[in-house]
Order: sequence, then structure tokens, then C-alpha cells
Amino acid sequence: MRKFNIWIVLVVLIIGIGIGGVGFSLIEANENSGSSSNNMTVFKSSSNSAKNFSSTKNYTSPSHTKKSDKRVFINASMNTDGTTSSMAKTLFGDQSYKQINLASYNIPQVGRGEGDFNRVWKQLKTADVIVIGTPVYWSNMSGYLKTFIDHLQINNDLKNSDLYVIVQGADSDQSVAIDSTYGSLNRVSKRFDLNFVGIAQTDSQVSQLHDKMLGK
Ligand SMILES: Cc1cc2nc3c(=O)[nH]c(=O)nc-3n(C[C@H](O)[C@H](O)[C@H](O)COP(=O)(O)O)c2cc1C
Repeated sequence: MRKFNIWIVLVVLIIGIGIGGVGFSLIEANENSGSSSNNMTVFKSSSNSAKNFSSTKNYTSPSHTKKSDKRVFINASMNTDGTTSSMAKTLFGDQSYKQINLASYNIPQVGRGEGDFNRVWKQLKTADVIVIGTPVYWSNMSGYLKTFIDHLQINNDLKNSDLYVIVQGADSDQSVAIDSTYGSLNRVSKRFDLNFVGIAQTDSQVSQLHDKMLGK
């Protein structure tokens, strides 16, 4: 009788391991194909809106196109001289600007002290033209930028300043990152009365925004 029970336990165990193995393989295959049961796509390009995303669509004309305007570039990349900063260089063209590399400052998570936030804010608050450039990290803006934004306190200092945004990453389709970054920065723009001129992910969109910046 005891021997019979051991056999039943063994058979149940083997069947259980078999079912578990098949289930695990299915999940793994699903993840590798870039989709899961709730239709989320991870790190996989799809032929949706971002490929045709127009940097000028639905945005306003700039208010500041004079050579004497104060221009600031917030670089939210860990690299001070990477692709984000080189796209900003193209956006400004031969106009002068000040580059602020967030990675060179110590800005803690909100609620953990101000750190260097006010050192950055002081350089930003008198700008007529602001370019925010972020690399895509995990389909979103970088943590440098998100943490910086989290520290913002609503005020009138940036009223009517022009805002341009660059969001760039390794993949050709950045629709998820564009949507999420646009969502946050559009809210910032509204709360600070900024003039959101446009958002670009490709070199050609940066060129379009460059022309806008020059008032063309
Ligand atoms: C932590 C991390 C996460 C990243 N996640 C993504 C991503 O989700 N999608 C993507 O297209 N590229 C991703 N990348 C690639 C960067 O966006 C890309 O290399 C970008 O051009 C880097 O800009 P930089 O030269 O200014 O640093 C990631 C890079 C890092 C370091």
C-alpha cells in the first residue's frame, strides 16, 4: 500500500513538472516575440504613429527668434557629448546657447533634499528659448530629466519662453517614449505658461525645428 502511494506521488510530480515546463516555454516564446497577453510590446518597432510623427504638427510658432535671445539646452543624457547633445547642436545651428548637463549635477530623488536643483534652475529661469533633450531609456525620458522635473515648483519665471524637445533612442520607432515624454512636458509647459514649439526624434525633424527657431 505504502509503495503504491509513493508511485502515485511520483506520477503526479512528473505530470506537474511537464505542465509547468510547457507553460514556461510559452511565456518565454511570447516575451521573445515582443508581445505578451495584454498586447504590450517590449523593445520592438511597430508601424504606428511615431514613424510619421511630425515635429511641427499641432504646435505653435516660436515667440523668440532674435539673435540676442537667451538660449539654454538641458541635456538629460548621461553623456555630455553624445547623440542628444549633437542633435541639440544641429537644432541651434550657429546661434549661441548654454548647455546644462544634468548628469554633472547632483539632483536627488524628490523628497530627498534639493541637492544642486537650484543651481540648474537659476541658469534656466531667465531663458527665452529652452531645448530639452533626452535619450530614450526604457521607452521613456531619462531618469535625469524625470527627477529634475519632479523638483519644479510652479511659478511665472518661464512665462512665454519657447520650449523645444528632442527625444532620441536606438530604435527607429519611439512612439511610446514620445507619447510619455510629451505627456509630461506638455503638462509642465501648460503649468509654466511655456510656448511648446515642437518635439523631434529624427535628424530631419530637428532640421524642421531649426527652421522654426529661426522664424522661417
Ligand atoms: C539605460 C538605457 C536604456 C535604454 N533604453 C532604450 C530604449 O528603451 N529604447 C531605445 O530605442 N534605446 C534605448 N537606449 C539607447 C539610447 O537611447 C541611445 O543609445 C541614445 O542614442 C543615447 O543617447 P546619448 O548618446 O545622448 O547618450 C537605452 C540606453 C540606456 C543607457
